[in-house]
Amino acid sequence: MGGGIIGLVTAWRAAQRGLVTAVVDPAPGGGAARVAAGMLAAVTELHYGEQTLLALNLASARRYPAFAAELADAAGQDLGYRRAGTLAVAVDADDRAHLRELHAFQRQHGLESEWLSGRECRRLEPMLAPGVRGGLRVDGDHQIDPRRLAAALVTACERAGVVFHRVRAERLTVVRGRAVGVVTAGSTALEAPRVVLAAGSLSGTLAGVPAEVLPPVRPVKGQVLRLAMPSDRAPLLHRTVRAVVRGNPLYLVPRESGELVVGATSEELGWDTAVTAGGVYELLRDAHELVPGITELPLTETLAGLRPGSPDNAPLLGPTALPGLLLATGHFRNGVLLTPVTGDVMAHALTTGELPEVARPFTPGRFAPGPAPARTEQPV
Ligand code: GLY
Repeated sequence: MGGGIIGLVTAWRAAQRGLVTAVVDPAPGGGAARVAAGMLAAVTELHYGEQTLLALNLASARRYPAFAAELADAAGQDLGYRRAGTLAVAVDADDRAHLRELHAFQRQHGLESEWLSGRECRRLEPMLAPGVRGGLRVDGDHQIDPRRLAAALVTACERAGVVFHRVRAERLTVVRGRAVGVVTAGSTALEAPRVVLAAGSLSGTLAGVPAEVLPPVRPVKGQVLRLAMPSDRAPLLHRTVRAVVRGNPLYLVPRESGELVVGATSEELGWDTAVTAGGVYELLRDAHELVPGITELPLTETLAGLRPGSPDNAPLLGPTALPGLLLATGHFRNGVLLTPVTGDVMAHALTTGELPEVARPFTPGRFAPGPAPARTEQPV
């Protein structure tokens, strides 16, 4: 259930392993990936207290080159995968101190990250504001175009024999303490011995899921802008540029196509997806402080999406205490990055009943009352 990138990659990998697989979603390939910038930022998006998640993020980042090549081949489509690297810069003394600390933290974890002076940052990216005071060069943090990723996953699923039910799932069917399928908006009952709930920020809202296994996932709004860099001039930026401007995290992601993505707000406003004047203003104001030339570009799109936030900012992966129900949700800020590892982990869980080592800290049971559940699935 759920045809965003997480549901799709799970379906694709499951079908590749010979499972008869169906995806239920009114608009497969939609969801948060339509809004996301597509940074694969395991190193520059490292946060204190998220070291366990770092291991999963790095495992997925390592899989990306082979994953992207395999998917592009399977779908016959370009994914906009780009290895241009990332520059995280500081615009004032506070940011600089914060970035210095992040650098120390990265090094402590053996991550590749190089400290640059303001001048060295501008040598790499000449359109950066003269006030930039230093930065971190992380060549290993890449990017992909999430819309292309989603479209390629739909095609790869179709080619692998995945059936699409383009309709909303209304209710999980539970019979004698086991999930056995879903009922769709048209009241059609679909049966399946394994159901994966991968509905992004909506994952906690499905009727029929017992309260003790309902994922504690909430929507976290992000507003994002898209601008166009003229093709007849040198690109405004060559790599992803990130910063924290007056406490607001900001990123600018230039694509080979000429699109420049600027994001993102982070707002706890429930299901609200309105683009607000304030959100657009703040993003443009902060982006202008970082790269003044940005205001000359055409603004082509404004959009808001909902990240699937979880209590510890990490995903919920694998079997639940309800036999037959698995989760692949709660990826919060890292859905695009975690797509390859999620596909592998979920296909493994679906075919063996076990979670591979890399995913064990992310079992849904960590949020359940009482001890974490033991193995609940039988291999198919
Ligand atoms: N990972 C970027 C964001 O969630 O805004």
